[in-house]
Amino acid sequence: MDYRKLVDLARKARRNAYCPYSRFAVGAAVLTTTGKVYTGVNVENASFGLTMCAERTALGRAVSEGERCFAAIAVVAGGKRPVPPCGACLQAIVEFGRDIDVVMAAPRGSHTVTKAGELLPCSFVLAKANK
Ligand code: THU
Repeated sequence: MDYRKLVDLARKARRNAYCPYSRFAVGAAVLTTTGKVYTGVNVENASFGLTMCAERTALGRAVSEGERCFAAIAVVAGGKRPVPPCGACLQAIVEFGRDIDVVMAAPRGSHTVTKAGELLPCSFVLAKANK
């Protein structure tokens, strides 16, 4: 799938962001290797720490449907320039592959693409921690 289309789906999903506290809406769209797309948004809570980021919402939806193989995840956040996923979301993305393309875009304009493993070069790996 053309990443412009994936970004478009994340942009559309972003409209449903529930962010009354930060007013920072984020939309995500994860693309499986078979071409399916699952979207997600940030879901905030009055108990701030319970907030779900858009990327993990999208991944959770996909995994809940039995998906494990991902090609890319698009993230659309506010501001003028594309922003990368937070560290927690990067850790959640690399769980499924360091080669996953992270496609980042602002509400308007072009996107950038970087491998998840490049954005989080030193991810936590349980097998290594146990050695
Ligand atoms: N947020 C995301 O949805 N994804 C990220 O990668 C970083 C931050 C959300 C969480 C919170 O609702 C708002 O953006 C401000 O931090």
